[in-house]
Amino acid sequence: MPQILRNPHDLKSYISERIATGKTIGFVPTMGALHEGHLTLARRALSECDECIVSIFVNPKQFAPHEDFEKYPRALDKDSNLLEKSGVQSIFAPSIDVMYPPGFQSTVTVGSISKPLEGEFRPHFFAGVATVVTRLLLLVGAHKAYFGEKDYQQLQVIKTLQRDLAIPTEIIGVPTVREESGLALSSRNAYLSDIQKQQALTIITTLRKMENELKSGAEIHQIEEAARKNLESAGFDKIDYITIRDAETLLPPTIETKKHRILAAAWLGQARLIDNIPG
Ligand code: PAJ
Repeated sequence: MPQILRNPHDLKSYISERIATGKTIGFVPTMGALHEGHLTLARRALSECDECIVSIFVNPKQFAPHEDFEKYPRALDKDSNLLEKSGVQSIFAPSIDVMYPPGFQSTVTVGSISKPLEGEFRPHFFAGVATVVTRLLLLVGAHKAYFGEKDYQQLQVIKTLQRDLAIPTEIIGVPTVREESGLALSSRNAYLSDIQKQQALTIITTLRKMENELKSGAEIHQIEEAARKNLESAGFDKIDYITIRDAETLLPPTIETKKHRILAAAWLGQARLIDNIPG
């Protein structure tokens, strides 16, 4: 079984022993309830580094009071088994008090890249993510850290803070892992009924349709409008956004735009689903 480390002291001695013997460390931060998406990040880390450490911490700072922090799925034993099968050597699983000891009062905020899209609909979210990821990256001190493109804006926010704060860990983005149907794997898919899972597929089919329309030169506003209608007719309860953006700034494309990213966030009942593809 992977070794479970519970506090920064044990983590530091575990890591420094390995670094002293010349090993390279790959790090995969997660909130647990692991699936093939997370395991793909871990396997990628193991293919590029001698050891992989996975953190499991449901970070209260990135949930607003009305969000699903309490009911977010937690399954450390199952996660630990899955990680063992993937060859992961260690897990950092701190308690809330260990991550945020009494007196903790710092927040990391990232500028313009964290403002649109998720930043608009979950205004507290990126400060929570940036704060925990900065602390995790500094505690672990890995050579490389792996994040999924599933959370594309999160990946851009983390790349930005790593660069701005000169954090010595290289940040690596990994393409989204999907079910055969196209549905992006997510811990929150556990909230979906079978019927909702079918409905959820409309997100990826619509994103792919938008990609084709963009390539064939259709007008962006028209593509976005048709896409929103598509999700509405599939029965989504609320559509936060379905939009074509500049892949770097995540703002609406301009004549300067080199690459596009097509992103969506929409609600089925209690479940908020997000997905994105390159444009
Ligand atoms: P979590 O949702 O558990 O995701 C952990 C990592 O797995 C993230 O980098 C996420 O992008 C990646 N991931 C999730 N689903 C994926 C999929 N289908 N394909 C590829 N990668 C996928 O994201 C978080 O946790 C948190 O915000 C965290 C970064 C750990 C900070 O608390």
